[in-house]
Amino acid sequence: MRSVRDIDLKNKRILMRVDFNVPMDDEGKIIDDIKMTAALPTIDYVLEQGGSLVLMSHLGRPNGKPDQEFSLRAVAAHLGELLQRPVTMADDCVGPEVEKLAESLQPGEVLMLENVRFHPEEEKNDPEFSKALARLGEIYINDAFGSAHRAHASTAGVAAYLPAYAGLLLEKEVTMLKKVMNNPQSPRMAILGGAKIKDKLGLIRNLLKKMDILLVGGGIGSTFLCAKGVKVGKSICEKDLLREARELLDLASMSGKIILMPVDVVIAKEISAKATAKVVDIDSIPEDAMILDIGPKTLNGYTMAINRAKTIIWNGPVGVYEYPQFASGTTGIAQAIAASNAISVIGGGDSAAAINQLGLQDQITHISTGGGATLEFLEGIELPGVKSCE
Ligand code: 3PG
Repeated sequence: MRSVRDIDLKNKRILMRVDFNVPMDDEGKIIDDIKMTAALPTIDYVLEQGGSLVLMSHLGRPNGKPDQEFSLRAVAAHLGELLQRPVTMADDCVGPEVEKLAESLQPGEVLMLENVRFHPEEEKNDPEFSKALARLGEIYINDAFGSAHRAHASTAGVAAYLPAYAGLLLEKEVTMLKKVMNNPQSPRMAILGGAKIKDKLGLIRNLLKKMDILLVGGGIGSTFLCAKGVKVGKSICEKDLLREARELLDLASMSGKIILMPVDVVIAKEISAKATAKVVDIDSIPEDAMILDIGPKTLNGYTMAINRAKTIIWNGPVGVYEYPQFASGTTGIAQAIAASNAISVIGGGDSAAAINQLGLQDQITHISTGGGATLEFLEGIELPGVKSCE
């Protein structure tokens, strides 16, 4: 991969794609700025080397038209505070006015473009739109790992019209994810939770090739239990995916891999703050209840397995951890990973948020800023954003 560290940035205008797609509350206040702070090393590096920066990003999904709800103005203001230097906000991301602003940049100055998804051409990876973006800089740097699975104009197309390099965050993400996938130290373990099993079956297939043991919880856990014939009540059990889940169980046993499933679970009749939680063994789940967390016996078994692992990938909470009565499994997994000496990588917003809430982030080898991008990378799919720098 071509790296930003390989080029002379002095007096150069750098067009840089970042992923500032941060969560915001109803009043447009940024709730979590991890994606922004993760891009600061590259931003600082470019400015310290004497370059100027034209930053581009998307925010949300505005459907190809300007919509103030998705404006990056508040993000630019917050970036100014983080950098402690002015950040000029452009009204658009292409066009003569923006070109003028970009051309007037002096070394050390920063211009933030308005949301690239205000133009439908962005997501279509339109060549003319890519060229229009390319006119804003002399060198393209991609540091948007979180968007690297999108073949859009600002994440991939623009690389055809400018010399393209990876930023420090993109480089670090790829290095760490490769390291954990290819780490020869076994036992190698993946812990998978979350609700969307459909998105993750391809991932499980690839993980079974690379990992020795898979621990499942959340909706994925329920679907696997269901595939084994366990009566899971009203739990997530994606019927059309059962056949594939069974195939994966067969594949695991044929290749000598282990898929560990819950032996006890926390159940309730509803998902709400006032729901009454109860622990039961998996053969005693009532028809009107659903699985909302792994139980204490399961957590104990999973913790022992985590203690022995040398390599750990974790994606997705194992329960509805937003509610305290269903949070013990996810909290326990987070604590066990933090306490282990294994190389550990956490991907996906929810598991990363759980680790951060517990203040355990310093005890994890790498917390990925990618959601979908990390999953696709672990699935073995080539990411267009990464390819653009190769
Ligand atoms: C993310 O939040 O996963 C990235 O910013 C990509 O956003 P998207 O799913 O809207 O492309």
